Amino acid sequence: MVLDKVLWLFAFVTLVYCKAARQIEQDIQSVEAYIDSKKGDINQRYRLRYHIAAPVGWINDPNGFTYYKNEFHLFYQYYPYDSVWGPMHWGHVASRDLVHWKYLPTALVPEKEQCFSGSAVVDGDTMILMYTGHVNLDTEPWANETQYIAYSDDGITFHKYEGNPVISSAPNGSPDFRDPKAWKYGDHYYVVIGSKTDDKRGQVLLYRSTDMKNWEYLNVIAESKGDSYMYECPDLFELDGKFVLLMSPQGMEPQGDRYKNLHQTGYIIGSFSYDTFEFVPEVDFQEIDFGHDFYAAQTTEAYGARVLVAWFNMWEQPRPEAEDGWAGAMTLVRELRLVGDRLTMRPLDAMTLLRDEIEMVGILPPQQKLHLGKASELIVSGDLKEKIELQLEGSAGGEKAWLRWEPDTGKVVVDRGSGDIRQVEWSPSSTESWRIFLDVSSIELFCGEGEVVFSSRLFPEGEWIVTNTSPQILHATAYSLAWSVPL
Ligand SMILES: *[C@@H]1O[C@H](CO)[C@@H](O)[C@H](O)[C@H]1NC(C)=O
Repeated sequence: MVLDKVLWLFAFVTLVYCKAARQIEQDIQSVEAYIDSKKGDINQRYRLRYHIAAPVGWINDPNGFTYYKNEFHLFYQYYPYDSVWGPMHWGHVASRDLVHWKYLPTALVPEKEQCFSGSAVVDGDTMILMYTGHVNLDTEPWANETQYIAYSDDGITFHKYEGNPVISSAPNGSPDFRDPKAWKYGDHYYVVIGSKTDDKRGQVLLYRSTDMKNWEYLNVIAESKGDSYMYECPDLFELDGKFVLLMSPQGMEPQGDRYKNLHQTGYIIGSFSYDTFEFVPEVDFQEIDFGHDFYAAQTTEAYGARVLVAWFNMWEQPRPEAEDGWAGAMTLVRELRLVGDRLTMRPLDAMTLLRDEIEMVGILPPQQKLHLGKASELIVSGDLKEKIELQLEGSAGGEKAWLRWEPDTGKVVVDRGSGDIRQVEWSPSSTESWRIFLDVSSIELFCGEGEVVFSSRLFPEGEWIVTNTSPQILHATAYSLAWSVPL
């Protein structure tokens, strides 16, 4: 009799569970069918060729960057049904070299919770995603954010854990509690999560677990003194003997050249102890990229190196591509190094795999124009005692930009015209050239060994034309680059 009841209960639970799993499978199939039916309608005029973007719809933060079963996996905040933000899914791409990407089916679909940002860890043959379940509420505080996990045994199909949420509230109950970045060290998983104090200052919380399900709260590892109301997307990692706390603080006020984007992404260098769980800052917060469009960066380890990718956009900016049925992209993946008090970012060595034709090698006299394809790489150098300036424009008009070296101020400037300028001091550590990646609607400028990097979106029409508008002869090498992200 008792056994009977247990069996019935078991059957009932299995039925409910299978029904839920089937529902999710159907939801994913219908998302994929929608994507397939719409992607032919996309206007390709601004479509990037070697940067990740969604086939259709909106993307923001990179998520779940990890290496699993011989491939790198990257997920992104995704709303397939419009080119504006909407209920969050996780889109999914994978790559063997972090340069050539393929699409995989949407990994997570929202149910009662939206699937906000998070990360991935690998446990043997299983990939485990940890993400923020965001549930809208009808009354204050309007939303509830708790931490969820999902499993996969093939890196394609993900099953949400039935016991979610695994962390059901911040220690102070703050409704802003998101973007878990988990990693394994020794016998434990650790996770850092962005949140805020009761008096609305950004903070980063640290937890640990032995199974990803039961979490022990450890410590606040960073807290704003009042210049930021929320720390998003924290990421803590060891690099060259130090610890780096990467994060995206919201609400920092502009100070001169600094913090001119709506929200920032940057880092604090310090030391961290797995015995006391304390992070001791040694160098104050610094921006990691100086361009107009860069947010919510996330890192992973790749062949012993630390690599980073970020959302190649900023909140509340005009997005000309949105008219075309898509919005948002990822930056190139970069390798991080710690050099003195700063992080440097360099393009991956594998980026040279994309070089197709050599467009030019030689000198570029003043006023000389260089006609390049829509996807190009340009390496430029000149005499840093004199001004250097390149004008970037489209062969059929559209937006223009200028890349400038100003010897008087020692600054590199990325100027999108009408005062829309980002600039920062640059002192080359060894290499004095610039490496510039131009995609259909983007510019990435790597100065020297990546001491200073700018990532900015730009919307020229037609192919790229680069003009040497400096008063001096420049040396230039240019390549056309191949597609590495499918349409
Ligand atoms: C948020 O969700 C958690 C977990 O489901 C629940 O324990 C908590 O009461 C919720 N908070 C609010 C404000 O609804």
